[in-house]
Amino acid sequence: MNTVSVCFVCLGNICRSPTAEGVMRRLVDEAKLADRILLDSAGTGDWHIGAAPDERARDAARQRGYALDALRGRQITVADFERFDLLIAMDDRNVAALRQLCPPAQRDKIRLLMEFVPESDGRWSGAREVVDPYFGGAEGFELVLDQCEAACRGLLAALRPQLLA
Ligand code: 4NP
Repeated sequence: MNTVSVCFVCLGNICRSPTAEGVMRRLVDEAKLADRILLDSAGTGDWHIGAAPDERARDAARQRGYALDALRGRQITVADFERFDLLIAMDDRNVAALRQLCPPAQRDKIRLLMEFVPESDGRWSGAREVVDPYFGGAEGFELVLDQCEAACRGLLAALRPQLLA
């Protein structure tokens, strides 16, 4: 039975990547694929190692029924490029940081989350990056959730054929 492992990556691992992990986990659970699609998240920075997700991210997620409270920040390591099939970054800065750390043979594993938004979803056409909400207000966290919900639906659809292969 095939499995696929995915690590979502942002800067601090307290706002965007835990949100993506929480959104994707619910979609995977609903699809009864929790034993086939393995999920994690990490940050490229080291400021929030061991920290719970940002309270604003947890509050916004909870309103939509996602539980982020048990997640804890960690920093990406070179071993993650072996462990995971896909390292899915929230923005171009995260992609650049991942490429610096990544063994050359694993570079194809690095992707941008917003690449997975279905073309039919006009709201996000042309959006490359998940917006960094850290220095903004509560509305930024709603936007992050909207973006993660759109992209994770597309990601699940993209992973299904790999599970059957
Ligand atoms: P994240 O957001 O990368 O989505 O977790 C940030 C979290 C912390 C900082 C910046 C962005 N920071 O500068 O500490």
